[in-house]
Amino acid sequence: MSNNENTEEDIQERVSNRSHRPDSSAFKEFMASNWGPRSTQMPPREPVADFLEARHQQAAEPFGTDRLVIPAGTLKVRSNDTDYRFRAHSAFAHLSGLGAELEPDSVLVLEPNLEEGGHTAVLYFTPRASRKSEEFYSDARYGEFWVGARPSLEEMEHATGLRCADISTLQDALSKDAGNIQLRVIRGVDQQVETMVNDVRRAANLPTDDEAAEIDDALAEHLSTMRLCKDSFEVEQMQAAVDATKRGFEEIIRALPRATKHGRGERVIETAFASVAREEGNGLGYETIAAAGNHANTLHWMDNSGTLPADGLILVDAGVEMDSLYTADITRTLPVNGKFSAVQARVYQAVLDAAEAAFKVANTPGMRFRDLHRAAQEVLATRLEEWGILPVPAEISLSPEGQQHRRWMPHGTSHHLGLDVHDCALALKEMYQDAFLKPGMIFTIEPGLYFREDDLAVPEEYRGIGVRIEDDIVMEADGKARRLSEDIPRTIAGVEEWITQIQS
Ligand code: GLY
Ligand code: MN
Ligand code: MN
Repeated sequence: MSNNENTEEDIQERVSNRSHRPDSSAFKEFMASNWGPRSTQMPPREPVADFLEARHQQAAEPFGTDRLVIPAGTLKVRSNDTDYRFRAHSAFAHLSGLGAELEPDSVLVLEPNLEEGGHTAVLYFTPRASRKSEEFYSDARYGEFWVGARPSLEEMEHATGLRCADISTLQDALSKDAGNIQLRVIRGVDQQVETMVNDVRRAANLPTDDEAAEIDDALAEHLSTMRLCKDSFEVEQMQAAVDATKRGFEEIIRALPRATKHGRGERVIETAFASVAREEGNGLGYETIAAAGNHANTLHWMDNSGTLPADGLILVDAGVEMDSLYTADITRTLPVNGKFSAVQARVYQAVLDAAEAAFKVANTPGMRFRDLHRAAQEVLATRLEEWGILPVPAEISLSPEGQQHRRWMPHGTSHHLGLDVHDCALALKEMYQDAFLKPGMIFTIEPGLYFREDDLAVPEEYRGIGVRIEDDIVMEADGKARRLSEDIPRTIAGVEEWITQIQS
């Protein structure tokens, strides 16, 4: 007989074995009484509040009088009854200005103003409950005893400048005038909200579910595309993220001597960075790559369980995500002992020259995003030819029929960067790769060369060396490109001096 007889009730009973909440009325009354007064002081208005109205109008502009529904997302189970730390969907973060750990299960609605035109944003969330409620002490998701005092509607309005409403009123608000107006929702973020939108559509004889996929996808694509050009608040946050990332790399350099003696030296490097990321920001924008020696040739090496070879290189790709959720994305390749060997320096200089060529493109008027990659590839293919590694002339390798050099540089040179490390991912090719570089764009330049230790196509001295240099670039109002990461040393001499200076 199967022992699979656990009913939901059995499970609940066992869960309550762990902790049993008293439910006598004496307890409830006592819990509701004798708490000191709450502060009546409003939280300060967040600086991002001044940027939201322009973002809302840009978000709604292609969609006439449609009602636009942008959920924050919900807590995600890590295992059993523990969740991951909450991180809002980037479209929600962009349009609400809410950052770290704020506000699971909330929903931003861009509400059409049918008479005067334009849209008004309304933020629906679960406000702080009264201390007379059971939620106050018993609700592990929202209760003040469990997660702290959440904001009231008034406090949230004050901080964000947004109109705020209780999430319990969302369904009615979504239903109003449905049929006369269309609804669009960002899919795949909050199933409950998506179901609510589809129910409202069904009741109003609007297309639902699969039939509304194109309608919804157009919203997701537009909200992703509109982030290609950042406003001044975003540029400031990105600079702060890069500056914090610099301090993270300095902590890495301080940790190098200890890491070389450790059985999992790469983890020492990873956690040195993580401590700064968590102290100065919300955390990491993505999992840190700490790849020593040949591990650098595994492009997404995140296991970070290796040792540090004393005369080898360590490639670290890491970014601090600020409380606002903007992230840096920086790679530095460091000599573990503080000095590049001749062959390491040769490879490093080629990668640096490729980065320089791409940066020059960014500083040349009339260039498209894809020209960054082309310029970097030209340098790398030429250098590989000079070293006698490329099996064909660089010119042939660079042609679409060749591409042999890509064996050693298999990834792209640049991507947009912002709230997501690979930002604006839903933008169409003509808005991204084929687009002209424009003020407000923030992107990486990150060429690399990767010679695997088992690569018989390269001379032995190159095998096991992997180098990437990654900088974050902003296009300024005058059309000039500026490295946000200009202050993070990147030349051979600069990196060597940096290590000496930090370690002395
Ligand atoms: N860290 C991910 C990337 O460089 O694209
Ligand atoms: Mn990158
Ligand atoms: Mn990176």
